[in-house]
Amino acid sequence: MRNDVAQGAVVWFTGLSGAGKSTLAGLLAAEVGRRGTRVEVLDGDEVRTNLSKGLGFSREDRDANIRRIGYVARLLARNGVHVITAAISPYRDVRDEVRRLVEADGAAFVEVFARCPIEVLAARDVKGLYARALRGEIPNFTGISDPYEEPPRPDVTVHSDRERPEESLARILAVLESRGLVASPDPAW
Ligand code: ADX
Repeated sequence: MRNDVAQGAVVWFTGLSGAGKSTLAGLLAAEVGRRGTRVEVLDGDEVRTNLSKGLGFSREDRDANIRRIGYVARLLARNGVHVITAAISPYRDVRDEVRRLVEADGAAFVEVFARCPIEVLAARDVKGLYARALRGEIPNFTGISDPYEEPPRPDVTVHSDRERPEESLARILAVLESRGLVASPDPAW
């Protein structure tokens, strides 16, 4: 196994529910692993069933959720693991706080904004949550009855309404390659 990339990195996806964070996190993890770097995914839904079990969706609980994800991500990244996180993380302050902590450890932080218009998400509604939120059945639903603060300067922005996942993945990988965080694809493959 090749592992010529020693520095750990946190690739932090942020964006509304259904905007493609988990799909891209999975694709990215598979590719990073293929290129010889150890990698872990911290997915919002999964984190909420164990590490953050019991937390709700108030600002306080969401910030606690993000700090926990950030804490685990730091532990891994400072040991050379690449960590890919996929939680809505709607509040700018706590995202920036995690970035500062990760960078203070000497690891890289790459913010990926999964951007998708709310109308598209509500029409897609894979989990059926947008319809329920629009009927007022889910209080504090991000993008409907709760805020989402867009990142002002994301390292990458991907658009699931007008890009195929493979295209988004290629653009994220290009940024990671340019920063020396993943090896270039092996030309022999
Ligand atoms: S975060 O705001 O704390 O980052 P997280 O990514 O962990 O959120 O969880 C979001 C997921 O929880 C959504 O994809 C959705 O399936 C579910 N969910 C349930 N209630 C809400 C809500 N009020 N707002 C947003 N997502 C919700």
